[in-house]
Amino acid sequence: MNIILLGPPGAGKGTQASRLEHDRGMVQLSTGDMLRAAVKAETPVGLKAKAVMEAGELVSDDIVSAIIGERLDQPDTEKGAIFDGYPRTAAQAESLDGLLAERGRKLDYVIELKVDEDALVDRIVGRFTCANCGEGYHDKYKLPKVKGTCDVCGGHEFKRRPDDNAETVRTRMAEYRAKTAPILPIYEARGLVRRVDGMAQIDTVTKEIEAVLDGKVI
Ligand code: AP5
Repeated sequence: MNIILLGPPGAGKGTQASRLEHDRGMVQLSTGDMLRAAVKAETPVGLKAKAVMEAGELVSDDIVSAIIGERLDQPDTEKGAIFDGYPRTAAQAESLDGLLAERGRKLDYVIELKVDEDALVDRIVGRFTCANCGEGYHDKYKLPKVKGTCDVCGGHEFKRRPDDNAETVRTRMAEYRAKTAPILPIYEARGLVRRVDGMAQIDTVTKEIEAVLDGKVI
């Protein structure tokens, strides 16, 4: 099964994708994570993407579709892929169809996480992660139990994404509205879209997505 998680920045795509990966053995393909890894490693792609990402704008379609194509060639993705943050434009949606068809695969669902955009800025601006194990925290909603110590690995170093400031988040939201939201009707016309309330508790959102994947939501 291949699914897309679609929603604005902070909608919970990454949170839900990693849960589905853990629970269902599908593979999370996050273009944001892949690009951040490229920036960190200072690869040619990373060097091109860095300033664009820090401004909250979209990296070029060619670059992200090439990254996804390479990743889909790895055999673990045959078990099923969760596209997290891709596609984000009509051109990327078209590329994804081609990339899947070339490999004899198809898209099963597009899960739209419906959210209140005003709440998202707060979600994003407050988040931080353990630099060692990646466990996620939030200034208001989820602080480490012992101040300055990761609950999971005991690490003491934490980091924030450079694009998680209020101004850049507004640009990311505007990019979503202008370039990503318009791809929904394309998938709707193909009967692939299922809507889930992304403002519900994280566990509830997971259950709703699972119900879709289990065919309990038509
Ligand atoms: P990317 O990394 O994809 O960022 P994004 O889409 O802005 O999404 P986020 O990771 O911020 O949010 P999310 O929806 O995954 O939410 P999360 O689960 O983390 O992209 C970054 C940049 O890379 C882009 O701006 C662009 O430059 C570039 N890029 C990436 N892909 C690209 C592409 N295809 N084309 C071109 N450029 C591309 O949750 C957020 C917070 O909320 C967390 O703290 C979480 O704990 C909390 N939370 C989640 N769910 C809930 C809930 N139900 N209730 C309460 N809190 C919740």
